[in-house]
Parts: sequence; C-alpha cells; structure tokens
Amino acid sequence: MSDCQPENSMNRRTFLKSSVVLTTGAVSHVRAPAIMHAQGMQSPVVYALIGVGSQGRNHLRNLSTLKSGRCAVLCDTYEVNLKKGLKEIGNQPETETSNYRRVLERKDVEAVFITTPYYLHVPMILDAMSAGKHVFVEKCMMKTEAEIPLIYEAKSRHPELVLQVGLQRRYSSVYQNAIRMIHSGILGKVMTIHAQWHRNTSWRRPVPDPKLERIINWRMYREYSGGLMAELGSHMADVANWVFESEPTAVSGVGGNDYWKDGREIFDNVSVVYEYPQGQKFLFSAVGHNRYLDFSETILGDRGTIVITLGRNNPRAIFYPQKLAFGAPTEKDKVKIPEELDWMAGATVLEKEKGIPIYAESSTEDKGFVAREIGYARRWLIEMGVIEVGREQNPIQAEDEHFFECIRHGKAPLANLDVGAANSRSVIYANRAMEEKRRVNWPMQELNGIEPALLNKKV
Ligand SMILES: NC(=O)c1ccc[n+]([C@@H]2O[C@H](COP(=O)([O-])OP(=O)(O)OC[C@H]3O[C@@H](n4cnc5c(N)ncnc54)[C@H](O)[C@@H]3O)[C@@H](O)[C@H]2O)c1
Repeated sequence: MSDCQPENSMNRRTFLKSSVVLTTGAVSHVRAPAIMHAQGMQSPVVYALIGVGSQGRNHLRNLSTLKSGRCAVLCDTYEVNLKKGLKEIGNQPETETSNYRRVLERKDVEAVFITTPYYLHVPMILDAMSAGKHVFVEKCMMKTEAEIPLIYEAKSRHPELVLQVGLQRRYSSVYQNAIRMIHSGILGKVMTIHAQWHRNTSWRRPVPDPKLERIINWRMYREYSGGLMAELGSHMADVANWVFESEPTAVSGVGGNDYWKDGREIFDNVSVVYEYPQGQKFLFSAVGHNRYLDFSETILGDRGTIVITLGRNNPRAIFYPQKLAFGAPTEKDKVKIPEELDWMAGATVLEKEKGIPIYAESSTEDKGFVAREIGYARRWLIEMGVIEVGREQNPIQAEDEHFFECIRHGKAPLANLDVGAANSRSVIYANRAMEEKRRVNWPMQELNGIEPALLNKKV
C-alpha cells in the first residue's frame, strides 16, 4: 500500500502489518497530508466538542493542557453540563445548545470531538464528515452492523479527513510495552486472555426531573446504549484484538438483569467468551455488585503472564514468567524464548509473587535478592528494546494530542476506522449472542476489505 492510499482502503493484511510496526516501536503511519491544516503546520487545530458530559469533560481537562488545539465551541443540549465544561477548558469558547449542526456549519471549526451517548455517534460522524470536519469519536464507534458500511462509505468519500476512535489503551505506553513484549514472543504462545471490569455501583445517575431520566440515564436503555459490553467490554475487546492481531471468529455468552432489577433494560452482569482463529480464547465479565476483582486484563502465555490495567490513577503491568511445561508444543514450534528468564535464580519467586514491572517507570527501595533479579530482567527487556523507558502520559491526553498531530501532519491514527469497526463488531455480536442465547459467528464474507481467509490463519 502506498503511503498516499486513503486509510479506509487498508485491508486486513495492511492492518495487521501496521500492528506489527507498532509493536516494533514505530508508532505512526505517515501518509500524504489530508486537508492542509488551514493556518499552517504550527498553528493549533481549531475544534468543537459536542457532548460535554463526564467523558467530554475528561477530554476538556486534558485538552486544556495542549497547545496543539484550540477549543472554539462547546455544544450540549444540557446547559448544566455545558457550564461545567466551560470551567474545564478555561479559554471561554462559544457555546451552542440548540443543534450540533450549527457547529458543523462554522468555517473556523476544523475538527470535532463527538463525546455524546452511543446512539448518536454514527449520525454525528456522518454529518461532521459531510461538513468536512476531522472527527474524534468516543468508543464504541458504531451501534448497529448496518452502520458500519455507512462510515466506510463516508470515509471513502473523504479520505483526507482524520477519523479516530476513543480507544485510549492504544495510546498508552504501558499497553504498547506489553503488546511489544507479547508480539516479540516473550510470553510464548498466548492462548488465553481473562479480563474483567467489576464494580459495586448501580451505574444510575440522580435525575433532577423525571422527564430527564432517559437522557441522563441513557446507558440503562437499549435504544441508546450497548450496555456493559459497549461501555466497558469494548476497551478490553480491543486489547484482545490487538494481542491476537485478529478479529474473533465467534462469541457466546450469558447476560442477565439479576441484581439491580430497577427498570433498566440492559444486563447488569455479562460473561462472554470470544474465540479467535487459532483457538485462542478471550473471556470477559462485568458485574455491578462486587468490585473485588476491579478491572484488568490477564494475558496468559505458556512462558508467562502479564497482568495489566490503566488503574484508577496509576497504570500497572506486571510480567510473571513461568517455565515451559515438559513437552509443551511451543518447544517444537521454536518460539524464541529468552533463556535469561530461565536461568534467573529468582524465577520461581517471580512466577508466583513479585513479577517484573514492565511499565515505563519503576523503582524499588528493596535491594534484596528478588529485587536484584527483577532489576536484571527489566534491564534485559530494556536492552532488547522490548520495554521503552519514559513517563506514561495520561492516555486521554495522548490520544487527543495524537489526533491533532494526525491533522497537522497528515498521519493516520493508531485507533483508526478498522480498529473502531472491528471493536464495534465485538460489542454488537456479543450483545446479540447474549440476547439470542446462541453462539454468533463472524461473517465469513468480505468484511470491509478484510480478506476472509486471513480470519483463519496467522499472518
Ligand atoms: N474512553 C473512555 O474511557 C470513556 C469513558 C466514559 C465514557 N465514554 C464514552 O463517551 C460517550 C459519552 O459518555 P458520558 O459518560 O460522557 O455520557 P454523559 O451522559 O455524561 O454525557 C453525554 C453528553 O452528551 C449530551 N448530549 C446528548 N444529546 C446531545 C445532542 N443531540 N447534542 C449535543 N449534546 C448532546 C448530554 O447532554 C450529555 O451532556 C459514550 O459513548 C461513552 O461510551 C468513554
């Protein structure tokens, strides 16, 4: 594929290649500039943000620290949130409460952040792209299968526009380190991922006026929401696709509204199993009655385990090596395993208890035997170029900054349309499997330019 090819024409093979490029360290796909950034490369991108709710304000908090973008308008139909948003961004942008299309008509606005509820994403993306705006849209990108080709079609009409989805783990150096490590074979053969997002909260928001119930508590109603899979599972389903460098082939699961029983239409607990082309499995659960397990992904290879999470305030990623079982199939496959990890005297302790931190920064006051072993292992991983040392940037800030960089320098986002569409399929099919109580297979016909044969074999 030439660098000038529009992003939407990436097929499966090039998509996978891009993932590999990321895992070996180069993180951008440079291509011909899109619409030239109007006021020259150095000037900030002028943007509007539509939907100044909790995630919209999270973006504004981070955007207020960036010099590469300037907020011209905040748009929300709910003035209470609009006022809170003005405090976050601080630069006194104009406001729009009646109709987001008025924001899109503005000539000065080059880009929009769409941080509205799930059901509004696709109509707003389509309107924004028709108006010639670069788009950042929160996850999950599409709510129905029928919407997916509409966005591909819009992107093919506007290849010059950046379209990025808010799957921020793609922008976390902690996750990038972990993925690089997995793809370079250090975990051996990765067959299973366990992930969970467990909370002890009803997810309900207080409503000042019953008329606002469905607007404020949109997450509870199927017309507007994809439930726990769209809101929480989507992040981890994206990590699974990233780890396995593929979309799943099938998903099954059970969900129920068994605890809260408060009139919500969505499930309050979900347990799903995705199958991948080489028999790998991704297991995900979300519950609303217990937060002991909190949220994390546990990635299980035959040479070790990585437990990883963005955490509440601090990201965490720990590698627990394990010795290969006698006669394990990877020995025959000659997967390159670092021998250093085998001879480490502390391997047994590391395997069960301490583990090796693989995030960018880590220090320990402990100068004992195990700490020294951890130090050796970390140094080895750094020297091999597997762990990149540096400060972890807030991933929301990183994805926002990257969005502006793509606009200013004609790059394609890491969390691009292919990533967003694959992620949407994971959410839509899991919900279908639970609602219809059956195993849902991925369609084997051509998926938006993805070659079906590649669904069955590793490239
Ligand atoms: N990436 C993440 O980690 C993350 C975290 C939380 C939420 N999200 C996503 O962000 C999106 C928003 O979630 P939220 O929690 O901020 O919801 P929210 O309900 O807090 O905010 C949504 C806002 O959109 C406004 N809105 C609704 N209809 C509108 C319209 N027609 N025009 C303008 N404004 C309108 C609402 O008034 C509200 O202020 C969802 O897609 C959600 O999945 C992503």
